[in-house]
Amino acid sequence: MITCHCNIITEQDLEQQIIAMLDEDCWQLIVPVKLYHAMEKRGKCCRCFPNVIDIIIRTTEAYHARFDRREAEMLPFREKLHQMRNRYIGEFHERQRKGHRAA
Ligand code: FES
Repeated sequence: MITCHCNIITEQDLEQQIIAMLDEDCWQLIVPVKLYHAMEKRGKCCRCFPNVIDIIIRTTEAYHARFDRREAEMLPFREKLHQMRNRYIGEFHERQRKGHRAA
């Protein structure tokens, strides 16, 4: 399924890149800009970013689950992921409200 229509990036492309990045450094915080940069792409309209963040969170949690990480190790990391999600989604909704005009 295509997640980013501006760059024609599928969910599978994103998952593969996230796993490759986690293989390099499993505790790095992956954000959409960093992910797109690694794929030599860039956000154009950035409307896909909320979905990309959900894919990052889901793929990262599945990655760490494979290695049977202890919950204590995952808690601070998981908290950072969800803070990132709230920040990006909050900014996304702010931008949408500012650009919205009622006739
Ligand atoms: S849909 Fe991904 S940058 Fe526009």
